[in-house]
Amino acid sequence: MQQLDTRAEGLHIGFIMDGNGRWAKKRGLPRTAGHKKGAQVFQDIVRYCNQIGVESASFYAFSTENWKRPENEVESIMRLFKEYLIKAFDYKKENNRVCFLGDRTPLSRDLVQMMEEIEEGTKNNTGMTLNIAINYGGRDEITHAVRALAQEVQQGKLAPENITEQMISDRLYTGGQKDPDFILRPSGEKRLSNFLLWQSAYAEFVYMDVLWPDFTRHDLDLAIDEYNHRTRRFGGI
Ligand code: FPP
Repeated sequence: MQQLDTRAEGLHIGFIMDGNGRWAKKRGLPRTAGHKKGAQVFQDIVRYCNQIGVESASFYAFSTENWKRPENEVESIMRLFKEYLIKAFDYKKENNRVCFLGDRTPLSRDLVQMMEEIEEGTKNNTGMTLNIAINYGGRDEITHAVRALAQEVQQGKLAPENITEQMISDRLYTGGQKDPDFILRPSGEKRLSNFLLWQSAYAEFVYMDVLWPDFTRHDLDLAIDEYNHRTRRFGGI
């Protein structure tokens, strides 16, 4: 059997954690049970990414559109964030630099406080960058960046013709970070769903049929192998 090419050093991988609801339904469990299992998988995959030398890992945990879900499901996801963010202090020990992507305005004060403490406590870590997207939307993120630039124009600090792509990148939640090399979406769906829209301009997409709560370290090895066999041209030949 051919050996997998699982070299992951220096990679930025984006994860769309999809399929929690279907996983639960298949077992006759409430959707919230799928999110709970999904959170455990999240924690294990973060550890594995650390071990194999991934440079950045970005996880889509809650989108700007997810508020449309039933109240009890939203509450349960928010509870899981708090539970796992407490555990996130372990990431300090694991040397991750944790960043939260998204608009924090509608989030509860205690959750935002936790997020800020974790970012502050891990900012000087030198290991993997761990991005967790909560109330994140790619279009919303670009809108925020455009507003910030418009304000600078209004204040006379910037001429519209001097706006560059780099200036837009710098004003995104991922400002200063490397763009994703590939976006991984389990659960069989083949959509970007508003995740890292700007940043994914040249990202490869890897889709897998496994539901996120069933996703294993071996599945990640398979995805990395698939990515390592792609040829990236960035618009060239
Ligand atoms: C998508 O599956 C998943 C979500 C909207 C929530 C993701 C949340 C977690 C994995 C839990 C907590 C995360 C952290 C960072 C601790 P879906 O519900 O859309 O699944 P479906 O398409 O099968 O319905």
